This record gives sequence, C-alpha cells and structure tokens, in this order.
Amino acid sequence: MRQSQLFTKTRKEAPADETAKNAQLLMRAGFIAKEMAGVYSYLPLGLRVVENIKKVVREEMNAINGQELIMTSLQRKELWESTGRWDDEVVDVWFKSNLKAGGEVGFGWSHEEPIGEMMKNYIDSYKDMPISVYQFQTKLRNETRAKSGVMRGREFIMKDMYSFCADEETHLAYYESTKPAYMRVFERLGIGDDTYVTFAAGGAFTKFSHEFQTVCEAGEDITYINKEKGIAINEEVLNDETLKTLGITQDELTATKTAEVGNIFNFGQQKAKDLGLTFKDQNGESVPVWMGSYGIGITRLVGVLVEKFADEKGMVWPESVAPFKVHLVGLNSDDVEVKDFTDGIYVSLKEKGVEVLYDDRDARAGEKFADSDLIGIPYRVVVSRKTKEEGKFEVVTRATGEVRHLTEEELYADFDSDENT
Ligand SMILES: Nc1ncnc2c1ncn2[C@@H]1O[C@H](COP(=O)(O)OP(=O)(O)O)[C@@H](O)[C@H]1O
Ligand SMILES: [Mg+2]
Repeated sequence: MRQSQLFTKTRKEAPADETAKNAQLLMRAGFIAKEMAGVYSYLPLGLRVVENIKKVVREEMNAINGQELIMTSLQRKELWESTGRWDDEVVDVWFKSNLKAGGEVGFGWSHEEPIGEMMKNYIDSYKDMPISVYQFQTKLRNETRAKSGVMRGREFIMKDMYSFCADEETHLAYYESTKPAYMRVFERLGIGDDTYVTFAAGGAFTKFSHEFQTVCEAGEDITYINKEKGIAINEEVLNDETLKTLGITQDELTATKTAEVGNIFNFGQQKAKDLGLTFKDQNGESVPVWMGSYGIGITRLVGVLVEKFADEKGMVWPESVAPFKVHLVGLNSDDVEVKDFTDGIYVSLKEKGVEVLYDDRDARAGEKFADSDLIGIPYRVVVSRKTKEEGKFEVVTRATGEVRHLTEEELYADFDSDENT
C-alpha cells in the first residue's frame, strides 16, 4: 500500500474531548474516527488490525470445532421477555426502538436468547449435538460510562460463541477446552503472559464464570493475582468463601488493574430450560440442552494492545496483528533515481508476499519518522540516496529500537513471509 494513497491522516494532537490513551493514539494515527462517546469508525489501518485479531480468534475457534455464522442485530421483544431479560431493571444496557409497522425491538447486546431459539429448529435428538457456533458481531450496549476509548464502546465487535451438548460430560469437556483455546489467542496476540483465567461473578450452573483478565493500567477491573499458583480472582467475588474454596489466603494475592478481554459462562441446563430448548435423549425422553457461552472483546483487544505496548513515540503492534509488517520509508524522493530505486524495493517486497506500507509521500524525513513511530508497524526499512549508493538498508525494529544494516538480499531473506509467519 502506498501511503500517499492510503485513506487516513495522522495528527499531532488528539481531540480534546478524548481522554483515553488508546483512542487518542488510534485517532492521531488515523486508525479510527470518533462519531460520539463510545462510538468509533474503523478506517483502513484500524480495520486491518481488527481483521488480523479476528483471524487469530477464528483459527482458534475453528480448532475447537466452532463454526462461524452471523446473527441479527434486531431482537424480538417477546423472545427476551420469555427469559425475563427484556426488562431494563434486569439488563441495563438495552437500546430499544419501535417498528413503524408496530411493536418494539431491541438491539442485540448478546445473543444467548436468539441462538437458543434458533436451535429449536435444528436440535431434535442427542444425535444433533455437540454443536458450537460463533460470530463476530457488532454489539450495541447503552453503557452509562464510555470513557475508556475503544475498550468500552456503546458499539463494539465481540466474538461470541455458543455450545450445545447432549450430556454433562461432553458439555464440561467443551467448556474446559475453551480455556486453552482462549489462552492460545492471547499468546498469539502477545499478551499471554499477562492474561489470567479469573474466577468471576455471573455463574449460573457453576458458582463462578471465568473471565480472561489482562494486566493493564487502563483496565476497569481489579483482579487479585498469584502468578506462581496461577490463581486470579475478580475483586467482585473476593470473599472468605471464595478464598476457602480456592485454598488460598488474601495475602498471597496481589491486587492488579486489569482489563476483561474475554468471559465464558457455563449455563448447565438452566438457560435451555428458560428457553424451552429440549431434545430427545437416548431413552426418548425430552431433556434440556447443556449450554455455554463464550465471549471475546475484539475491539477491546485493539485498545488493550495499544495501552500495553505503546511508548512515548506512539503505538507498537505485535507482528500477529500489525496492519502491515514493514513500513518502507523512502527518503530523498525528489531525486528521481532514488525514487525509482525505492519503488523497485517496494515492488520486490510485495512480490515476496511481505505486507508493506510504503511511505512514498513528499514529506520531510523527520515527519515520516514521527508518523512511522506513531503508526507502530513492527519493522521500518529506510531507503535513501545513501542506501542506493552503499547497498545497505537500515532496518529498525519498532518494539526494541534495534537497528540493523542489511544488504538487499539479506533484507528479502529477513522478511521472507514463510519464515516469519
Ligand atoms: N462496552 C464494551 N466495549 C468493548 N468491549 C466490551 C464491552 N462490553 C463487553 N466487552 C467485551 O466483550 C466480552 C464479553 O462481554 P460480556 O462478558 O457479556 O460483558 P460484560 O462483562 O460487560 O458483562 C467482554 O469480556 C469484553 O471483552
Ligand atoms: Mg463479562
């Protein structure tokens, strides 16, 4: 991609009404645009990050037999009434509206009810299960507080997966299998070491739900962590009983600011009972389905990655989700020969399958470097008159600042896409 043609613009200053670091940097670098508090559009650079995160999540969900689908945003009032979750006293984040044809609708903030309802048409017998389906969808939530940038949106992308099993054993095994699958996602995003499977509130069948909490100063949660023992407890469920159940004392735990990047729920048979989702078991008896639901905050992860990895110069993307792998910065572009030489390098890198953003703009070196630091692409390759004369390319690793000088051949070998993915 040629930067001169890229739809975006970098800015020196963030808008005054944006207080969250993640949104400030993402807006300054031209990844997102703000529509209103908690509502952001994703521009080409930001969308590439979102799509890369989705790709990682998709691969890991497919690996545990998840199948992708997409459900609707508009929700039927009667359906949610049947489980008692239409009431604003029960669910305080509903956006609701009226149909011109008459009747009220809600905007999907989660999808347990509609997926359970839909499954009534597809699950008749125990032979129809297990099933696990997931979607990436824009959820709408009327959040009262929207001050954390993309980490808490009124409109945000979630991956939500739902499992349906015919017996407790299969159900529990599936629920357990999502924990390592989720951890693989977070490892691939570079936050594995800082993310904890956390005992949290909201359990239905089981006492706890499990959250995936990532150590992050900008997070809204407090998690009590013991790294050695691998135990993490959300402060909302930290009490004598919980400590006793988990066999740990409070002084072994460190209170840490964290962001909830995922949350999984084991409903047992209760949710299906509420929904009337039953199947015929091996004895021909009608019993409720075993259900679980599994969320990951895709756009919240964008914010967490910015918050955790950014430095004073700008964002620093992990390779797995970076919008491009290489930022090719062309200098001395007023010299036609240098410009042609740099164009040639760009074409060669692209031909080798390397994802390159090529700064071919007519701008000063200082401005190009500042923008490059802000955008945070993992490797910067500088091409100038000197490069052309000496045959050495300056390669800077954004995360560490390490500088290497490579020949053209070494450069291609270094970014060989097969080796690096
Ligand atoms: N307002 C929001 N903005 C961005 N991401 C969110 C928001 N609310 C929830 N998420 C993400 O979606 C995941 C699943 O949501 P869920 O657990 O249903 O929400 P909550 O914890 O607010 O009840 C959360 O773990 C979080 O990563
Ligand atoms: Mg949650």
